[in-house]
Amino acid sequence: MNIQHLKQLFTSYFNSESQIIVRAPGRVNLIGEHTDYNDGFVLPIAIDRAIWLALRPRHDGQVHIHSLDMQPAPPSATVAQDNPTPDSVFELHSLTKGSGWLEYPKGIAYHLMKAGYELHGFDAVMTGNVPRGAGLASSAAVELAVARAFAAVSGFEWDAPKMAKIAQKAENEWVGVHCGIMDQMASAACKEGHALFLDCRSLEIQHAPLPKTVSIVILDTSTRRGLVNSAYNERRSQCEEAARWFGVKALRDVGEFTGKKMKEKRGFSEVVLKRARHIITENARVLEAVEVMKNEDVKSLGELFNASHDSLRDDFEVTNDALDIMVECAREQSSCYGARMTGAGFGGCAVALVKGGNAAEFVHAVSAAYRRRAGLEAAVYICKASEGASLMLG
Ligand code: GLA
Repeated sequence: MNIQHLKQLFTSYFNSESQIIVRAPGRVNLIGEHTDYNDGFVLPIAIDRAIWLALRPRHDGQVHIHSLDMQPAPPSATVAQDNPTPDSVFELHSLTKGSGWLEYPKGIAYHLMKAGYELHGFDAVMTGNVPRGAGLASSAAVELAVARAFAAVSGFEWDAPKMAKIAQKAENEWVGVHCGIMDQMASAACKEGHALFLDCRSLEIQHAPLPKTVSIVILDTSTRRGLVNSAYNERRSQCEEAARWFGVKALRDVGEFTGKKMKEKRGFSEVVLKRARHIITENARVLEAVEVMKNEDVKSLGELFNASHDSLRDDFEVTNDALDIMVECAREQSSCYGARMTGAGFGGCAVALVKGGNAAEFVHAVSAAYRRRAGLEAAVYICKASEGASLMLG
């Protein structure tokens, strides 16, 4: 991101200079998929793609956000100050629900105030390069960037887990999407060069250094599927049903998969059994991944990636053809230790663990193989583990 350019845009849009820049990244989850809402374990990294806001405080309780990506650019540079586009402005003390991207900032404002924070408003220009709907947590990046902006202009301390929880509330209750806590925690709390080993029950975190000999490659299938929300919610209730059967609070509390016992129980469907098997084995894979990373054992880490994808494909059934093809194309490359879908699934991205020096070659070969097999153009990029939500004066 060219920060100078963003600052210039702010100046031309608002007719004065910005004072603060905030940034919050998207994430790619290395392993631990659909485990967060089962109180389980996840291992995401923040990626080097983010949402940025250039801003300046306001003292009249209003928030003006001009998004460069979500709405057309203004017809002239000076319109906004006196005559802002109505969908990019809200009053902190008379928030009402609407529709569109502004619901994310409004939801953050509402839930910060509900949690007792006194907020000041701001003028901001917002932009980003996290692809939307690709499973890279673009919504969480917007939420955390806005939360970071409120912290900066209102003068309260940045408490990453607290902010992640508020952002999750905003998404669950204001926007109405019933996501878990992983994306918000990753965007809020990740550390450069590290994966975030997160216990989604206690929110305890450990920053796990990434093996030095590998590259992490994001493979965007360029497929996006609608109806993700209903399929996601269905998976959630199937997991809850399984937890009830086990007599535990969440599937996290089941240490070992006991399929036989579950089958014996009348009325316990094969489908719910498969969902439970994915969650229980996936939690175990995250714990193992953290251990093998300590020894830089990238071969075992790759095998865990592969097992995770197979479980998401066969038991949790959240892949699509494009994701399965992409993962096969990746695994066929000799430089690939392992590959799996990442995020909620049903389309979007896969992630591969690739031998360090071979990543550029890998990107080229997988893109070509995917084009041939799926008939689609992929976006494949090497990604760096970056820092969570951060503030730059400027
Ligand atoms: C989405 C949700 C997360 C998580 C993943 C699946 O990204 O927002 O909370 O459940 O799906 O692991």
